[in-house]
Amino acid sequence: MFCTTALDPLFTALDTPAFTDRHLANLAAGTVAAVRIPDFLDPTTCHAAMTALDRLPTADYDPARVPTRIVRFGPALNDYRSGPDGALDADRYWRDAEAARTAWQRAGMRPDPTGISLARLGSAWGAAVAPATIDGQPVFGGTLREINAGALIHYDDLNREYPDGLFDQDVVAQLAFNVWVSVPETGGATTVWRHRWEPADEPHRQAYGYQHRTVEDCQKVTLAPRLGDGLLFNPTNFHAVEPSPTGRRIAFAFFLGLTTMGQLIAWS
Ligand SMILES: [Fe+2]
Repeated sequence: MFCTTALDPLFTALDTPAFTDRHLANLAAGTVAAVRIPDFLDPTTCHAAMTALDRLPTADYDPARVPTRIVRFGPALNDYRSGPDGALDADRYWRDAEAARTAWQRAGMRPDPTGISLARLGSAWGAAVAPATIDGQPVFGGTLREINAGALIHYDDLNREYPDGLFDQDVVAQLAFNVWVSVPETGGATTVWRHRWEPADEPHRQAYGYQHRTVEDCQKVTLAPRLGDGLLFNPTNFHAVEPSPTGRRIAFAFFLGLTTMGQLIAWS
């Protein structure tokens, strides 16, 4: 809502064959809009993942209302806040995290898209990506989400969701990673606006997101999902997913955090 029509030449979506430490630094600094690796996962790996999905527990929807199967696997920390001051509902979270870990091992997904992704991001950074921990316990990383009906304009920022800190590590920048193992024929594009939350946005809240007027006139990039593509962006920029009328839009997703110690950590 306070954007101008002048363009930022650095706020673009880059297509590149591999992630580098420079990409990670630019994403963390918030200059580049998104970095995409076409064919990050090969079609065989995507297909193997889709086959293994049938062995994972899925969210319950009323089949009369939602006739297609929706995959919603693994707990995401921002769904486990209790109260307005951002405390973790720890009992519920750890119970669900443990259940997801057990189900994941049982599904035996090989190759493992999350493992592959973390390994490549670690090589780009020059050190292995560590799991974020709470009191020494690794949190769950590597959710799967089927988003066919779109997602509202929103942002993700751990430091705002949990202002007193949540992890043993302190995060100074957050990145969002997605890799698609199933894509719709049309729709399902991700848009990232050059806009970070500001107090003036708050009157324009809409459910878990924000009304379009908060990003009106803001510079944006829009990326259609393609099978096997890996995408990194800075989720403190407002972002949204458009609905896809036909086909399944399924991604493995996790966040990366750059810590005060210069480490990359991951969580979902
Ligand atoms: Fe998000």
